[in-house]
Amino acid sequence: MKNFVFHNPTKLIFGKETINEIGDEIKKCGIKKVLLHYGGGSIKNNGVYEKVLKSLKENNIEWVEVSGVKPNPRLSKVYEGIEVAKKNNVEGILAVGGGSVIDSAKAIAGGFYYDGDIWDAYSGKYFIKKALPLFTVLTISATGSEMNGNSVITKEETKQKWATSSKELYPKVSIIDPTAQFSLPLKQTVNGAVDAISHVMEYYFDGTKDTEIQDQIAEGIIRTVIFSTEKLLKDPKNYEARANLAWSATLALNGLLRAGSNGGDWASHALEHSVSALFDIAHGEGLAIIFPAWLEYVKNEYIEKFDRFAKEIFNIDTGNSAIDADLGLRVLKEWYKRIGQPVSLKEIGATEKDIERLVENAVQSSPMGKLKKLEEEEIREIYYIAFNN
Ligand code: NZQ
Ligand code: ZN
Repeated sequence: MKNFVFHNPTKLIFGKETINEIGDEIKKCGIKKVLLHYGGGSIKNNGVYEKVLKSLKENNIEWVEVSGVKPNPRLSKVYEGIEVAKKNNVEGILAVGGGSVIDSAKAIAGGFYYDGDIWDAYSGKYFIKKALPLFTVLTISATGSEMNGNSVITKEETKQKWATSSKELYPKVSIIDPTAQFSLPLKQTVNGAVDAISHVMEYYFDGTKDTEIQDQIAEGIIRTVIFSTEKLLKDPKNYEARANLAWSATLALNGLLRAGSNGGDWASHALEHSVSALFDIAHGEGLAIIFPAWLEYVKNEYIEKFDRFAKEIFNIDTGNSAIDADLGLRVLKEWYKRIGQPVSLKEIGATEKDIERLVENAVQSSPMGKLKKLEEEEIREIYYIAFNN
């Protein structure tokens, strides 16, 4: 296990009927006016918007709205948010939605105090040192953005989907009421599940040795995500399954698994971001395609961990590590298929020609990966595996 510092400053409020606490939490931070940021309107159909407004009014918090954040949030919406936030002298941001809304809110929060172009934080030219206080009401469990300092934004013109990270971007308070997720289409629930599993795998397979506690937590999270997703496919309003999936997804990327690790591999995420940047598909779908391809590519370098994965997650134990590793990967892919995810680039309409576009896009983030360092040639090979899957 590596040395580490674990510090997560986000206050997390979890459970039924907790959305009405948001106004009071904002007030307790001495904030009187916020930018209310949300997406395409799902919060108006499921009652979340109404609950949030009621709580703001009860606590005399004023708000201005910027809505219409799209999945794979765009830089242009961030600019709009920064402008509105500055013009109205808001003192904080309230993001109500999923990872896309929260990530967009984080970019606005950082951009508020930065005189340059906030894209600089994503292209590595600027490190966010100051940001508006951020509050979130989460409506889809997937990214962990409600309890981490990461933000991923797409610059439309160049199709660059890049990330930034800063301790200033951790939300002050996040509320997770799992009942707010009863309205999720099953497809979105499944996207979230795949994302959470992928975050765990980024750490699990990053090559750090002697991390028994992290490995056991990781395996517990993956098993719980699979178990809860299975339940939700049959019964989308099962509260306990929603709650277990939600907390698992938060724990998958709130720093807990990072402690003592190499920091995670993250090549699969970088490769996926190019896929969702070019094809505008959901991040979870892209990961269902890319992660198994990456696993296939690196499997032989880390057979003992793959063997363990197969045994702990899918009860596969033939006594032969290579066979078990293969079977584990095959069963994971089969499970993704069964829950309705694509597992090949072909399934999202990509042609062989698109592979070069993907390589060109992803290579901008290379070298990538910890378990195996990937450069252009390796990146191309993984996209080919993903294409032929
Ligand atoms: O636009 P709205 O109306 O909000 O609808 C959303 C959206 O269409 C809908 N939805 C959300 N909650 C709902 C609901 N529909 C009905 N009922 C509800 N309760 O679901 C759709 C997807 O929402 P989105 O926010 O895009 O999903 P997710 O949370 O998966 O976020 C994905 C984005 O986060 C990035 C991804 O790359 C992608 O851009 N990531 C962010 C990370 C982070 N900040 O740490 C890490 C991740 O690895 C990831 O890269
Ligand atoms: Zn992810």
